[in-house]
Amino acid sequence: MMQRKLALLVGIGALTILLMLKWEHVITLMNGETTSVQPWQRAPTDTITPIPGSRHLMVSAFKDHRLGGAIRVISIICRQELQPLYCVLCANAKADTTAKADANAKTDGALSQCTYLQAKVDVHTDDFGFPFVTSDVLCLSPMSQQFTRVSITTNPYDIHNLTFLSIQNQEVKDSFRYNFTVCISNLFGEYNNALQFAQTMEVYKLTGVQRVVIYNTSCGPDVEKILKYYRKEGILEVVPWPIDKFLTPSTGWKYDLHHGDIHYYGQLTTLNECIYRYMYQSKYLLLNDIDEIIMPYKHANLEKLMGTLQQQHPNAGVFRIENHIFPKTQFDDSGRFRLPRWRSVPGVNILEHVYREPERKYVYNPTKLLIDPRSVEQTSVHSTLKQFGPVLTVPFDVCRIIHVRVPLQGQLSKDQLFVDKKLWEFEELLIPSIDRALNQSGLL
Ligand SMILES: *[C@@H]1O[C@H](CO)[C@@H](O)[C@H](O)[C@H]1NC(C)=O
Ligand SMILES: *[C@@H]1O[C@H](CO)[C@@H](O)[C@H](O)[C@H]1NC(C)=O
Ligand SMILES: *[C@@H]1O[C@H](CO)[C@@H](O)[C@H](O)[C@H]1NC(C)=O
Ligand SMILES: *[C@@H]1O[C@H](CO)[C@@H](O)[C@H](O)[C@H]1NC(C)=O
Repeated sequence: MMQRKLALLVGIGALTILLMLKWEHVITLMNGETTSVQPWQRAPTDTITPIPGSRHLMVSAFKDHRLGGAIRVISIICRQELQPLYCVLCANAKADTTAKADANAKTDGALSQCTYLQAKVDVHTDDFGFPFVTSDVLCLSPMSQQFTRVSITTNPYDIHNLTFLSIQNQEVKDSFRYNFTVCISNLFGEYNNALQFAQTMEVYKLTGVQRVVIYNTSCGPDVEKILKYYRKEGILEVVPWPIDKFLTPSTGWKYDLHHGDIHYYGQLTTLNECIYRYMYQSKYLLLNDIDEIIMPYKHANLEKLMGTLQQQHPNAGVFRIENHIFPKTQFDDSGRFRLPRWRSVPGVNILEHVYREPERKYVYNPTKLLIDPRSVEQTSVHSTLKQFGPVLTVPFDVCRIIHVRVPLQGQLSKDQLFVDKKLWEFEELLIPSIDRALNQSGLL
C-alpha cells in the first residue's frame, strides 16, 4: 500500500516538474566555438519579420507597464492558421540592444540567458474580413523585467537562427520629447501629391505639431523629395514598411470589395505600432491620413485646445474628431492662392478648396483620433478597441478635420456647400514656409 502511494506521489512530482520545464525552460546560449546557437538581432531598418514555421509576421516588441510589464509583440496573424506560438525571451549579461547596421547583424560575444513560454495571442477584433489580422502576441512572464530581446516561434525546441527583436519602452517616462505627433499610417502606390503634402506639413507645424511619423511602402518621385527634405529638417520619421514583400496588401478597406491578404497595406498594424513607438516620446498622438488636418477652430493651436479639453475631462485619453470633406473639384473663385510658382508642383493646392460638404442626415460621419497613447491599448481607424479611460467626441465647432479630397456628395453645387476659409487665417506664415519647403526640396 505504502509503496504504491509513494510511487504515485513520485509520479505526480515528476509530472509537475516535467510540466514546469515545458512551461518555462531555461536555456543558456553561448556565442563562440562551444555551440552553434547564436541569437541573431534584427537590423534597425527591418520592420517586418516572418515567424518561423508559419505565415505570420512579427513587427516590433514593447514592454507594457500598464499590464505589469508584459511583453507585447505587435504581429500580423493569419487567422485560419493560428497554432500555439512561443516567446523566446533573452536577457544579456552585457547590454547589447544596439544592433549593428548591416542586415542580420549578429550580436557581440555576450552570454545570453534565454527562456521560453507559450504566448497568449490577442487577435484584434477589427479585421474587415481579411485573412491576415493585426494581433498582440503577449509574453506574460513573471520575470519579464530582465529581458531585453524576444523572438516568436512555432517551435521552441529549434531556436537556431531565430531573429530577435529588441524590447522597447523598457522604462516608464513622464516627460516627453514632443507634445503633438502625427502618425500617418501608410504611404503606398505611386502617391505623388507633393503640393498637398508640403502644404499639410506646414499647416501641421502652425497648429503645434512637432513630429510626423510616416510608414512608407512606396511613393512617387516628388513626394520622395519632400519626405527627404522634412526628414533632414528633423520633423519627420520615415519608417520603412515593405508589407508588399511579405503579403498581397489590399488597396481597400473591405475584403468582400477589395480582396487581398490584409486591410489597406496593414494600416491597422502601423497605427498600433506608432502608438507604442511614441508612447513615451509624445504627450499626444494624432492618428490621421496624409490628406487630413485635425484643426482647432476655437483655439489658436493644439496646445490650447487640449489644455481646455483636459481641464473639462481630466481622465479622458481618447478624443474623436469629426471628418469633413472639402471637395477638390470646387475652387475658390477669387483665385487668391492660385500662385503661378506652384503650378509646376504636382498635387492639390488645398488653399483653393474652401467649400465644405454638409453633413448628411442619415449617414454616419466617421471620426479620426487624437489620443494620449498611454491610455490606449489597441486601436482601429475611427475608434479605439481597448483603452483605459473615457472617450470623448469633440464637438464639431471646437475641432474638426479638414479633408481635401474627391467629393462624397459630388452632385452638390457651390451654393449647397459651406464656405470654410480656416486655412487662410495662417496665410502670413504659411505661404513663405510652403515656398521654402518646395524650394529646398528642389520642386520650385
Ligand atoms: C543557420 O543559418 C546558417 C546561415 O544562414 C546556416 O548555414 C545554418 O545551417 C543554419 N542553422 C540551422 C540550425 O538552421
Ligand atoms: C510641451 O508643452 C509644455 C506645456 O504644456 C511646454 O512646457 C513644453 O515646452 C512643450 N514641449 C515642447 C517640445 O514643445
Ligand atoms: C519609401 O519606400 C520606397 C520603397 O522602398 C523607397 O524607394 C523610398 O526611398 C522610400 N522613401 C523614403 C523617404 O524613405
Ligand atoms: C531657393 O533656395 C535657394 C538656396 O537654396 C535660394 O538661393 C533662393 O533664393 C530660393 N528661392 C526662393 C524662391 O525662395
